[in-house]
Amino acid sequence: MATIKILVGTVYGGSRDVAEHVKPELEAKGCRVDISEDPSIADLENKTLEGILIVCSTTGSGDFPPNFDKFYHQLQENGAALSQLKYGIISLGDSSYDETFCDAGKKMDAVLAEYGGQRIGRPLEIDSAEHFDATEPAGDWIGRWIDQLQQTEIA
Ligand SMILES: Cc1cc2nc3c(=O)[nH]c(=O)nc-3n(C[C@H](O)[C@H](O)[C@H](O)COP(=O)(O)O)c2cc1C
Repeated sequence: MATIKILVGTVYGGSRDVAEHVKPELEAKGCRVDISEDPSIADLENKTLEGILIVCSTTGSGDFPPNFDKFYHQLQENGAALSQLKYGIISLGDSSYDETFCDAGKKMDAVLAEYGGQRIGRPLEIDSAEHFDATEPAGDWIGRWIDQLQQTEIA
């Protein structure tokens, strides 16, 4: 069975709630879903996975949550072989942080693309100034994402 790994970067748990919310939708499409808050480069290079979904908030001033910090910096410094990786991004942020809105998700997207990963769909940016319940916009987005993922062959 195809496995999707969801890597969650969170400070207050909102991103975890989003991951738990989308999990049944992915399962309904025939996927096994594994949620982790302990991301590693090995997850990204794991060729047995159908895809990776990053669900990550931004903290500080455009910074990663502590559980994503080391992962991102290792990836940035050492690189990874990601030509087989299909991934999606859900970023949680707050537009009142204007200049750094959803920066962690943007940085993660950039580094995955730099090492050859293929992003599926547009990143979803969930603005907490607009959505009290972050799971609501994720519900609409995830159905389109999994359809696109399952239709995309890696060259
Ligand atoms: C101290 C602090 C700093 C934040 N900095 C940013 C930021 O730079 N950019 C942004 O888009 N959101 C920022 N946010 C908003 C969070 O990303 C947003 O509330 C998000 O929904 C939290 O998700 P989480 O519960 O998964 O951590 C910040 C929030 C706090 C409390």
